[in-house]
Amino acid sequence: MPQHLTVVNHPLIQHKLTIMRDKNTPSNQFRQLLREISHLLAYEVTRDLPITTKTIETPMATIEAPKLAGKKLALVSILRAGNGLLDGMLDLIPSARVGFVGLYRDEETLKPVEYYFKVPSEMDKRFVIAVDPMLATGNSSATAIDMLKEAGAKNIVFLCLLAAPEGVARMKEAHPDVPIITASLDEKLNEVGYIVPGLGDAGDRIYGTQ
Ligand code: URA
Repeated sequence: MPQHLTVVNHPLIQHKLTIMRDKNTPSNQFRQLLREISHLLAYEVTRDLPITTKTIETPMATIEAPKLAGKKLALVSILRAGNGLLDGMLDLIPSARVGFVGLYRDEETLKPVEYYFKVPSEMDKRFVIAVDPMLATGNSSATAIDMLKEAGAKNIVFLCLLAAPEGVARMKEAHPDVPIITASLDEKLNEVGYIVPGLGDAGDRIYGTQ
């Protein structure tokens, strides 16, 4: 099994992430940088995809050329900030199937509650990449993965931009079979569950809301 946590600390990712963290970076630039980083993360998360071959004719010769094997993979965005990572992933894997998981936090129980769930068919046969920029407490991420497993998914990775140690631990406890790929392992969560140093509320920064 791949290692549980992979931090992709490529210099381009780290440079772009620094601009994203800056509170003075406006939404349009933030969105564009997130898209660019998701291209680089997509490269990392897909590096072990199985390959088969097909016969093609180039202008010069007939060859057995490599192509991706198996069912088209599924990208699952955890709403709403997940859509910021999804767009860039789709640039690189345009034929991927796409699903969405919507969860909100019940203010009394503090537990995640489902409000939307739609995923592609045959999840059991697909490589599933669940995307959410922020792995904070890990509660909603772990619940989203529960839902994907209930839908049949067996081969899942969780892709995020920033992870807090608390969220990584929670995911490891709930889903040790789901590797996490992130651009940074930050220091901690604050008392209201935000990642420190982080970048603030990812959804607000992507969409210019507050
Ligand atoms: N969600 C966010 O958008 N930001 C955080 O810091 C934690 C959770």
